[in-house]
Amino acid sequence: MTLQLRVYVPDHPLVKHWLAVARDRDTPSVLFKSAMVELGRWLTYEASRYWLPAQETTVQTPLAEAPATVIDPTAPMALVPVLRAGLSLLEGAQTLLPLAATYHLGLVRNEETLEVSCYLNKLPPQFAPQTRILILEPMLATGASILMTLNELTQRGADPALIRIISVVASPVALQKLSEQYPQLNIYTAMIDEGLNDRGYIVPGLGDAGDRAFGTL
Ligand code: URA
Repeated sequence: MTLQLRVYVPDHPLVKHWLAVARDRDTPSVLFKSAMVELGRWLTYEASRYWLPAQETTVQTPLAEAPATVIDPTAPMALVPVLRAGLSLLEGAQTLLPLAATYHLGLVRNEETLEVSCYLNKLPPQFAPQTRILILEPMLATGASILMTLNELTQRGADPALIRIISVVASPVALQKLSEQYPQLNIYTAMIDEGLNDRGYIVPGLGDAGDRAFGTL
């Protein structure tokens, strides 16, 4: 697989641990939800490195002046959870990026045709220039949902170079499609799996992330 976009798989025991909990079919929904919160937190931590609008300044300690790095609170920043499953990553992401606006995008796929349609779009008509956008989409499977999301964002002025995606499991086919259409992207995923089954599910994957997070199995 030759990719132009950058895919980061954090080599961190906490990410691996919570991925294992989420994958385990015997994990009950309440613990699955906790695992997704933690994965949202740690993947956001990794994705926000070299991406947050940091400024060099100085602060006055009780003893002297010290160099300091702070985050510009005026720089526009947005979280885009892709419903339903993306909601499970939101709590963890918000703990690290509390000033970010949250724009919900509801996508559902037809389980027979695997085509995706949009049932809720709370995106703004236009993003302010230089808006940093973090997309929360746990499963990059066929690539259809994430490509629709990116099309909606870029039509509203989002710059792909300032977009980061966090996902829990990604398939090679989704990464290939993303790389062809959005080579400037940066993706942070806990794992890249082997592929898809004939129902468009990632294998070994973790099953239906939305059903498992919301107890609707
Ligand atoms: N959506 C899921 O929740 N799981 C998959 O494996 C693929 C799409």
